[in-house]
Amino acid sequence: MNKVEYFTKEYTYIQDENKIKDIKYLVSKLPDYFFEVPASSTGKYHPHYASTKNGLVKHTKVAVLIAHELLKDESIGFKFSQEEKDLIIMALIIHDGLKLGNPKEKYTRFDHPLLISKFIMEQKDKLSLDATNIRKLCSIIESHMGPWNKDHYTHEEVLPKPKNEIERFVHMCDYLSSKKFLEVPFDGINIIQS
Ligand SMILES: [Fe+2]
Repeated sequence: MNKVEYFTKEYTYIQDENKIKDIKYLVSKLPDYFFEVPASSTGKYHPHYASTKNGLVKHTKVAVLIAHELLKDESIGFKFSQEEKDLIIMALIIHDGLKLGNPKEKYTRFDHPLLISKFIMEQKDKLSLDATNIRKLCSIIESHMGPWNKDHYTHEEVLPKPKNEIERFVHMCDYLSSKKFLEVPFDGINIIQS
């Protein structure tokens, strides 16, 4: 499958056509491994579906679906403008895109949120997003790990923590999608939604 096609369903959750083009472009530039690897090497931190081949893609899809469903509920979604909703979906589609670095390394790069942010900045001239929204997208991604912002070995704070509603929301969707008790049924790489 072509890289861009993995998230055909998820692009439909974005309203602005230019943002759809931008996220498709960014997905097309992700390294091959992203589309194949499990979400975590140990299987310790993710539900079963995420521990197999394509697990990282599946984890991504669940995080996006959680966001989409919550944003659709107007008692929750009212907090965000349509533009912010689009940025939330974009951020979640790409948040773990360089989880094992670029080129691929053996283990999760703890600073993968910063790698994606840098990756977006490197591609910025190819995107139609303006500077403000690029900055917003990058900060949402940089802080997606929430409280897990310290390097395991040095105990230094490497990642920024979420500091506003949109950043906390994206962290929450990623956090929920990694919970073992939230098993999601899949058919291949597609979530079964009745
Ligand atoms: Fe994630």
